[in-house]
Amino acid sequence: MMTAAVFSRTVTRGEDGALSVGGVDVRELAGRFGTPLYVVDEEDMRARAAAFRDSFTTAFGRHGAKVDVYYASKAFLSSKVARWMRAEDLCMDVASGGELELALRGGMPASHIGLHGNNKSDAELRRALEVGVGRIIVDSFTEIETLDAIAREMGTVAPVLVRVTTGVHAGGHEYIATSHEDQKFGLSLAAGAAFEALVECHDAEGIDLRGIHTHIGSQILSLAAFQESAERMLGLRAAFRAEVGVDLPEVDLGGGYAIRYTPHGEELTPQDAAAGMAEAVAAAVEKVGGSWPHLSIEPGRAIAGPAGMTLYRVGVVKRVDLDEGGERQYVAVDGGMSDNMRTITYEAEYTATVASRLSDAEPALSRVVGKHCESGDIVVRDVDLPHDTARGDLLAVPATGAYGRVMASNYNSVLRPAVVAVRDGEAELLVRRDTLEDLFSWDVAPD
Ligand SMILES: Cc1ncc(COP(=O)(O)O)c(C=O)c1O
Repeated sequence: MMTAAVFSRTVTRGEDGALSVGGVDVRELAGRFGTPLYVVDEEDMRARAAAFRDSFTTAFGRHGAKVDVYYASKAFLSSKVARWMRAEDLCMDVASGGELELALRGGMPASHIGLHGNNKSDAELRRALEVGVGRIIVDSFTEIETLDAIAREMGTVAPVLVRVTTGVHAGGHEYIATSHEDQKFGLSLAAGAAFEALVECHDAEGIDLRGIHTHIGSQILSLAAFQESAERMLGLRAAFRAEVGVDLPEVDLGGGYAIRYTPHGEELTPQDAAAGMAEAVAAAVEKVGGSWPHLSIEPGRAIAGPAGMTLYRVGVVKRVDLDEGGERQYVAVDGGMSDNMRTITYEAEYTATVASRLSDAEPALSRVVGKHCESGDIVVRDVDLPHDTARGDLLAVPATGAYGRVMASNYNSVLRPAVVAVRDGEAELLVRRDTLEDLFSWDVAPD
């Protein structure tokens, strides 16, 4: 019941049966920082960042092409994480003014930051230009006009990529597929909007058109989807060259590489993704001619996800009879949908293990649930946990490093958990737990 393949690389189970991560016993972490607790395995997260950097640099380098890896900070961001990514020679993608400020606070140079968003405010655009971000990825005609006007008024020129909807439908769930026609992101390749936007950017005085961007979705296992998307993007670049006479220097192929959430889950490794995408871009360049573009990619979950786990304390254990026979063990923990929105939002699958001890009890079909007022408040839908799982046990849910803390809420006025980084036997707080004072400070009390 250890589900080792899903845990980050430094997780081990000691002789007394308790897990440790980064050389720190989970019981010590829970005692020191409380539960629920997000734990980030620094060595694992940085190694994943380095694996994307090295695999893509090698695979595209064979063709003499350059690749930048932008860590998609929406997956998980703190200023320390920005510092780690910089140390690993990554750039960073941000999707709001808040993410931009955190990235800058962590020392990520503005020139290495790309600003995303389908509905950026004037203030966000202005701030991005003021600090000098390396690229703004424009998502609509409204934004192109607005950005052009703001840049001219500020006496500057905005470096821009146009976000393209390639029509490739991929992703683990409808809500994380982002390149089919009927959704809110980007400008359609098929309908000609992407081309029109490129021409508008090219003609705009306040815009320096650097290239094109696409992100087809998240939790994608299919290399073929990435390859199809790359081919379509290179086709658009070739068409722009043919009609306008400009070889766009940059092509960003987005993120979305799948990770393993459960022992039977699959992942798309950086090595396989790099080799397959370099092959697809090479074939497309060969077919359409022109120079190789400067490429970039934007992995988020594949860097942060597997490096994180959540530690919960078990509270109530209940057994219910199932209509089809047998029973289900409901294991209620001290968090839930407020710290992991992914199960209720995307029907995401996770696994769990008792982390504070070994048990030789029979496995029982179990469901890990939270403490919130919703029956959909499920953390792990189906998992075998020992029949003697009991109040006070620590439960570890692996692969929660991405889209966990950043999507957390205060539903039911719970206090959002802390995030702690572990490495070489040391634990360091990255994000502190909310306090009651935080809750009170948001509440404007009447006299
Ligand atoms: C534009 C863009 N790039 C990159 C990502 C990262 O995706 P993932 O975390 O699945 O790699 C996202 C996710 O929403 C995105 O919207």
